Amino acid sequence: MTTQISAVSSGKQALKPARELIPATLPDLAYTPEVARETAHLYEKVSGVIPPIEWPGFAPYIKAINELKRSRNAVVLAHNYMTPEIFHCVADVVGDSLQLAREAAKSDADIIVQGGVHFMAETSKLLNPDKMVLIPDSRAGCSLAASITGADVRALREAYPGVPVVTYVNTSAEVKAESDICCTSSNAVRVVESLGVPRVIMIPDEYLAKWVATQTSVDIITWKGHCEVHERFTGEELRAYREADPGVKIIAHPECAPDVLAEADFTGSTSGMIKWVHDHQPSKVLLVTECSMSDNVAVEAPKVNFVRPCNLCPHMKRITLPKILESLVMLKEEVTIPKEIAARARVPIERMINLSH
Ligand code: 13P
Ligand code: SF4
Repeated sequence: MTTQISAVSSGKQALKPARELIPATLPDLAYTPEVARETAHLYEKVSGVIPPIEWPGFAPYIKAINELKRSRNAVVLAHNYMTPEIFHCVADVVGDSLQLAREAAKSDADIIVQGGVHFMAETSKLLNPDKMVLIPDSRAGCSLAASITGADVRALREAYPGVPVVTYVNTSAEVKAESDICCTSSNAVRVVESLGVPRVIMIPDEYLAKWVATQTSVDIITWKGHCEVHERFTGEELRAYREADPGVKIIAHPECAPDVLAEADFTGSTSGMIKWVHDHQPSKVLLVTECSMSDNVAVEAPKVNFVRPCNLCPHMKRITLPKILESLVMLKEEVTIPKEIAARARVPIERMINLSH
């Protein structure tokens, strides 16, 4: 049986079997004056991006989730693509894939709830093998992770003997287990160059690999995986935005195709893009990425006008407040990874994390 330390009202920590903590029913979810009062400070923060009519639907869940996190000693990790009511109102840690992986490694919570997709929850589990990691909807996948298997990596190694494999974190644990080192979009160039070799295999994102190839002299062998959200943007679309408004700044994620990145004033990871907006405070900006991110950044950059060519990630959008609450109440869906795969998959992730310190 899984055991966990749970915070109790006396302030002491008591050892309790996790399963005994399951409440029989969901908490009351009425929008009462008390709920309105207790969540008012949070609504003030997000009022620019969440209409008042929607708040009564969110507030009872936010209050219940925040209370349950305390009693369960749980944390919610939220990727930058989570909707604002999750990102700003229930998350304990927010960030890009690298930041979430690092924070997961440091966490002293008993339960980690992953606000993000399945490969992110697997990374958290790999770095926290003794903790309970929950994903509110296990169907939250990723087209990049689905594009490649462990057998594909073994075939690549046979085709290119001795060439190291650099694997984007947007992959399954099974694929990581076949890899030399992981990378994210924020450290990919550094990771590739850290190997000190003339040639690497970089999987599975063809466009990220092509972008890295423009930033380094290392020869890169790519795979044909694509992000189904970023591949929808086109260079033509961005030129039309620029023609309509020559002052607009265009910043893009490296999962976009090369003709899209050619139109960008800056290319970086989701957190790199957020930092660029904060540092430059452009009067108008177009974030070429998943559209919830514009809402999340707008909350903290009220003077910036965001142009929103909206492409949603259907996998990220499976994670909602009701599912996060249900996940904490029922302690589901628990992420598990076979021991033998976990032991091998942890190595390339830890190599990446150690490199970025
Ligand atoms: P970041 O690491 O830049 O947050 O990217 C993760 C992702 O899935 C982007 O689509
Ligand atoms: Fe995967 Fe693209 Fe969704 Fe990111 S945005 S999780 S890369 S499908």
